[in-house]
Parts: sequence; C-alpha cells; structure tokens
Amino acid sequence: MNLGPTRPKVMPADQPTSRSANRRWWDHDADAYHLEHGTFLGDADFVWCPENVREQDARLLGEVSGKRVLEVGCGSAPCSRWLAGRGARPVAFDVSIGMLAHGTAAARRSGIGVPLVQADVCEMPFAASSFDLAFAAFGGIPFVADSAGAMRQVFRVLRPGGRWVFSVTHPMRWIFPDMPGEVGMTAIQSYFDRSPYVEVDEDGVPAYAEHHRTMGDRIRELVGAGFVLDDVIEPEWPEDFTGTWGQWTPERGQVFPGTAIFVSHKPF
Ligand SMILES: C[S@@+](CC[C@H](N)C(=O)[O-])C[C@H]1O[C@@H](n2cnc3c(N)ncnc32)[C@H](O)[C@@H]1O
Repeated sequence: MNLGPTRPKVMPADQPTSRSANRRWWDHDADAYHLEHGTFLGDADFVWCPENVREQDARLLGEVSGKRVLEVGCGSAPCSRWLAGRGARPVAFDVSIGMLAHGTAAARRSGIGVPLVQADVCEMPFAASSFDLAFAAFGGIPFVADSAGAMRQVFRVLRPGGRWVFSVTHPMRWIFPDMPGEVGMTAIQSYFDRSPYVEVDEDGVPAYAEHHRTMGDRIRELVGAGFVLDDVIEPEWPEDFTGTWGQWTPERGQVFPGTAIFVSHKPF
C-alpha cells in the first residue's frame, strides 16, 4: 500500500478519524516496520519496549500457563506466540490487516499459530469476562483518541482478578522532538498540551494520529475504568545495551525515561 508523502498538521482527531488514519498508516508501514525491527522483536519472543525489557525476565504477567490472554495492538503478534509456547491460550488483535499479515507469515515460519483478529481496542468484539490476562506492548493505546474508553473495554473483557499490563511511550517524551541525539533533548512543547500529533496525506486526509496523555491522565483513566494500579515501571536504559529504536537511544535513555509500563488488575 502506497500512502505517498505525509506532513504534520495541527488538527483534532476523534476516535473514528484516528482509527482510519492509523489503520492506513500501519497497513502502509507494516513491511518497513518489520524490516527495521523484526530481528529485535523475533517471531516468538516477548519484548515490552525499546529498553529491551523481556517478559522472560520481567514476568509482569505472572504465571501464564493455561490462561486465556488477550493481546491488544499485537502487530505481527510475536508476544502471543511466545506466550503460546509457554502454555497460554492467547488471542491477538490489531486494527491493521497489514500488520496481522506479518503475523500469519511469522506463524508459518515459527510453526506457532495463534488466533488473529482485526479490531479496534475501543470497539472490541469479545465477550465480557472472557480473558484472564490482557496486555499491550506499545499496541493500540498510544494511538487512540478515546484511551479512557479503551481502558473500559479492557476492563469489560477481563474476568475479576484479571491482570492488565500495557507499555506506552513515557508521557514526558511528548515535550521533546521525536528525534534521537542532542536535538531530541530540548523541550519544544508543553507536557500539558493534549492536542494529538497528526499527519495528513497529499489530499489533507489524516494518515497518522498519536495521542498524548500525562502520567496523571493515564492513572486516572485506569482507575476510572475500575482497575487497581499495582505498579508503574519506568525502565532505565541498560548499561551494556546499544540497540536503538527511532528516538529511543542510549544517549536519551540514560537521561530520562522513554517507556512507562502500567501494571494493574481488575478487583474481585
Ligand atoms: C508500535 S506497534 C506495536 C505492535 C506490537 N505490539 C509490536 O511490539 O511490534 C503499534 C500497533 O498498534 C496498532 N493499533 C493502532 N491503533 C489501534 C487500535 N485502535 N486498535 C488496535 N490496534 C491499534 C497498530 O496497527 C500497530 O500494529
């Protein structure tokens, strides 16, 4: 899919606009994304963030064997295949059919198949209380206008006691340009400005949308949906880790956090 050149434009982006923009974007970007990041992500591996926090070590989901697990914004779903290899029963969904197609190819390569569904996190086609665990590794949540509604949707599909863990870009990154190195270390906008970052195509149609929430907003939305917040993890850049991911670099990571991981559960 050829999207053509895009450019930033200051404009609002409600959830239907964000959904169609991001579906186009990720369909268009799926091949390039996997060319650039596929080796780091693996076919059946579980990495939470560019700081290289792996579920193998972090164990943020707890015991997964036999659990019904929902992956939000799964991309090509390497995390769900890793979980399936440990006895979990994952279902993975994403708004982009282009990203899911990479999941089908990775399932063939790895020999591990998991159910893949095309859906928007704000309108999930799953029954109430049908999962024991839900998680997102940078999937869906940073891209939705109605992130409070997304929290309520996850709450609905989890059983009481079920855990919800998700990683997103750390809220404080919003104030800096999305650039590696020195230039990305000078604040250019307000932390408190919730206007979305939108790119439009040649015809002015939105082709990408990302939504900022402050740390307080994220916590308020989780708690407002009914979750109990158990932890907020701000991974430090590992001393010996030289890998980069766009604006996530050792230079920046050693000074301020790039990722926030929220660990929560639905009370009994
Ligand atoms: C940064 S990628 C992360 C994908 C995967 N978790 C990984 O680590 O490679 C973000 C993903 O969120 C998906 N996404 C964006 N908006 C979404 C929405 N409203 N509902 C579900 N998924 C969405 C995109 O299609 C994309 O696959």
